Amino acid sequence: MDFLAHHNHTNISFLFITTFLIFSSSIHLCLSSVNDTITSTISINDNNQTITSNNTDFKLGFFSPPNSTNRYAATWYLSNSNIIWIANRDQPLKDSSGVIKIHKDGNLVVMDGKNRILWSTNITSSTENVTRKLSAQLQDNGNLVLSDDNTGETVWDSFTHPADAAVPTMKIATNRFTRKKIAYVSWKSPEDPSSGDFTGSLERLAAPEVFFWYKKTRPYWRTGPWNSRVFLGAPRMLTEYLYGWRMDHDPDGTDYLTYSFANPAEFGILSLTYDGKLRLARFLNKTNYVTFEVSQNKCDIYGTCGPFGNCDPSSKPICSCFEGFEPRNLEEWSKKNWTSGCVRKKEAQLQCGRLKNLKNNSNNNNGGVEVQQDGFKVFNNMKVPDFAERSDANLDKCRTNCLGNCSCLAYAYDSYVGCMFWVSDLIDLQKFPYGGVDLFLRVPHSQLIATVQERRGNKPPIIIAIIAGVIGLIALAICSYILWRKWTAKQTRKS
Ligand SMILES: *[C@@H]1O[C@H](CO)[C@@H](O)[C@H](O)[C@H]1NC(C)=O
Ligand SMILES: *[C@@H]1O[C@H](CO)[C@@H](O)[C@H](O)[C@H]1NC(C)=O
Ligand SMILES: *[C@@H]1O[C@H](CO)[C@@H](O)[C@H](O)[C@H]1NC(C)=O
Ligand SMILES: *[C@@H]1O[C@H](CO)[C@@H](O)[C@H](O)[C@H]1NC(C)=O
Ligand SMILES: *[C@@H]1O[C@H](CO)[C@@H](O)[C@H](O)[C@H]1NC(C)=O
Ligand SMILES: *[C@@H]1O[C@H](CO)[C@@H](O)[C@H](O)[C@H]1NC(C)=O
Ligand SMILES: *[C@@H]1O[C@H](CO)[C@@H](O)[C@H](O)[C@H]1NC(C)=O
Ligand SMILES: *[C@@H]1O[C@H](CO)[C@@H](O)[C@H](O)[C@H]1NC(C)=O
Ligand SMILES: *[C@@H]1O[C@H](CO)[C@@H](O)[C@H](O)[C@H]1NC(C)=O
Ligand SMILES: *[C@@H]1O[C@H](CO)[C@@H](O)[C@H](O)[C@H]1NC(C)=O
Repeated sequence: MDFLAHHNHTNISFLFITTFLIFSSSIHLCLSSVNDTITSTISINDNNQTITSNNTDFKLGFFSPPNSTNRYAATWYLSNSNIIWIANRDQPLKDSSGVIKIHKDGNLVVMDGKNRILWSTNITSSTENVTRKLSAQLQDNGNLVLSDDNTGETVWDSFTHPADAAVPTMKIATNRFTRKKIAYVSWKSPEDPSSGDFTGSLERLAAPEVFFWYKKTRPYWRTGPWNSRVFLGAPRMLTEYLYGWRMDHDPDGTDYLTYSFANPAEFGILSLTYDGKLRLARFLNKTNYVTFEVSQNKCDIYGTCGPFGNCDPSSKPICSCFEGFEPRNLEEWSKKNWTSGCVRKKEAQLQCGRLKNLKNNSNNNNGGVEVQQDGFKVFNNMKVPDFAERSDANLDKCRTNCLGNCSCLAYAYDSYVGCMFWVSDLIDLQKFPYGGVDLFLRVPHSQLIATVQERRGNKPPIIIAIIAGVIGLIALAICSYILWRKWTAKQTRKS
């Protein structure tokens, strides 16, 4: 009995000790192996606690922006001066009582010291049966993913709810059917990450391009359609981004842009600055990074010259009306307020609509007035206007289709984008020094003839060529004469 009792006793303590060892080592294992995950039992307090992605590049924790004491839950790359995503950007914590945790309703939340929810993923409601166990993992690409422990299903992730910044594999996306967007919203100022004035999103899905909006509704600037190499309306972005953009389409109707680096060891944070600019921090390696800002001129600001106004940053003034057009409001225009743009002059109306009327008349009259068909004038290196419609027609068909449709005011062709044409006022045009497209503007026949005559009347170049030729001949003659003199002098010395 004694022995047995003793035996039992040792057995029990042995069991207790082993259980304790297993338990504590499993807790230890747990903590070290799931250190990239927030679960119902592991949360993050604002006392230097973080979770770290398995590759150690990314962290989730609390930070304060420069010159601010507010606290925000955020993810960052390498250090908290490289913020990628912020949870409670519009509900800052005023002290360090914050906690990031899985709430009992299943959501990932940020709470303050009084257990008030400042921010929530809002994907499950407390009225629903809480049978789901969810956890949030910070993945190796920087994405914070909330998923169902049982099914593995992703219910929410930070990459589809971005702040102002896109990193490689993040999408700038819009769904054709639901119009649901993954949009980026700038900070209010360098010291205040709350939702600011500028928004970036993928628009104009006929020929998708990135738009930057001011206060959500006013277009601020646009890149022009992506043509698999460059943005047609932002040739200056070519040099910096050539290696990286990609347009893709999900089966659910989502069109999206992503970017990447030729060298996978590189990393980047592309952000929309508080003042509406695009900034790329490019990490060549983990210690070295360079930043670019895509420069903007006055012509990049959407619609600076109004409808049918042509913007050329290298000319003074920057805005002009196309030939055959005149300022809609001369008084505003002369005060350098160009936003009302230009209208077609009375004497330069298109003939297309009239042509049909007259044809009908002439049929009745058995012969009569002959009306000349409209044509096109080409403008090189142009930013494509907004509101392009698109078809798969080739260059020739693009032209004839446009000519055959009286509402068609212009067309342009790009081998990747295809045939682009415009049936509404042409707006946001710009003349580039290089890049862009050839824009074919519909003009009445009279204007075409005028241009041909203008060209024929262009005599100065011929005169210059003749003069240059004559001067050249004279110079040649003088040279030959000098050489001949030298040669004859040599001959006379020799003899
Ligand atoms: C957090 O870390 C900083 C610097 O390492 C230190 O100064 C500060 O006291 C820490 N705060 C807490 C609450 O541990
Ligand atoms: C994760 O691990 C790091 C270092 O290993 C530690 O400093 C940090 O407190 C851990 N975080 C949590 C939430 O346990
Ligand atoms: C975490 O990183 C280690 C070392 O790089 C690797 O061996 C392990 O497979 C990774 N774990 C996961 C879940 O990716
Ligand atoms: C922080 O404040 C200082 C002094 O007012 C200022 O010089 C600096 O530009 C500010 N930093 C940022 C990021 O705004
Ligand atoms: C979650 O829902 C609440 C209440 O409807 C709302 O105030 C809050 O802005 C939502 N949060 C997010 C991140 O959508
Ligand atoms: C909620 O849970 C109850 C009991 O667990 C179950 O009978 C019921 O079907 C559940 N409701 C839903 C909507 O899942
Ligand atoms: C990072 O890149 C820079 C520039 O290419 C180089 O000078 C530096 O040695 C690199 N550092 C590391 C740790 O690779
Ligand atoms: C320019 O003209 C437009 C249209 O008339 C007007 O709405 C706008 O306020 C003017 N802008 C300035 C700076 O005067
Ligand atoms: C011209 O005639 C055609 C057929 O004869 C008719 O369909 C069309 O409406 C007429 N157009 C105008 C503007 O009268
Ligand atoms: C001209 O093009 C517009 C825009 O694609 C289209 O809605 C319209 O039906 C076309 N008109 C004709 C006569 O083809």
